[in-house]
Amino acid sequence: MSIYGPYEGSLNAILQDLKRRIEELNQRQVEMKQPKLYEHLIGRVKASDSMVEKCRRKNYPVTAQSALRKCRDSIGLRIVCNFISDINRCLDQLNQADWCTIVKEKDYITNAKPNGYRSYHLILDVTTPYVDIDGQTPGHFFVEVQLRTIAMDSWASLEHEIKYKHDVKDPALIGKELKRCADQLASCDVQMQTIRQLVQEGDRVS
Ligand code: GTP
Ligand code: MG
Repeated sequence: MSIYGPYEGSLNAILQDLKRRIEELNQRQVEMKQPKLYEHLIGRVKASDSMVEKCRRKNYPVTAQSALRKCRDSIGLRIVCNFISDINRCLDQLNQADWCTIVKEKDYITNAKPNGYRSYHLILDVTTPYVDIDGQTPGHFFVEVQLRTIAMDSWASLEHEIKYKHDVKDPALIGKELKRCADQLASCDVQMQTIRQLVQEGDRVS
């Protein structure tokens, strides 16, 4: 039996609805001859086993209530952008959307984690046509959104893969090299942003 109980189906439906909504926001930008908002978008409903593990780790009772209210990442979306400025455009769009409110923001781009991790994290409170665990319809569900550039994303997958799949001999050295790599990628993101601006200015004068 899933920790989400009768809400599991709604979580999957909400994830699909959200992806469609964000794809539509992107299409609207493209129709207005603006650059696309993001390069790609992925989402998942956290597997029941992983949610049970998280509740145990945080000393929450292993219940649907904990999974849906104390934890706020049962539904996760990752929006991977070409440029840093696109992350801000995505943020603007989400701030304007009438179907969600941003209840928490963590800017790990301005303030990178000590290991070098960069991303902009949001917790959304999304209004949905599904009944929620408080018995309310329209129901409210939390969604974790991670906004990052392709460079930040490639670093995060490498770091994740090393952390979980390898028993490294010298973790301090690996950590230091990973941090160096993260900072170089961050510098590339800034350079790429500059190049884009130069190209866009060229487009305006010609
Ligand atoms: P939880 O309550 O356990 O979800 O953590 P938190 O509230 O401290 O959330 P945080 O915003 O730090 O991280 C949430 C998610 O961001 C994680 O599940 C990862 O997907 C991602 N993340 C955060 N830090 C790192 C990191 O150092 N490396 C990688 N690869 N991913 C990270
Ligand atoms: Mg999490």
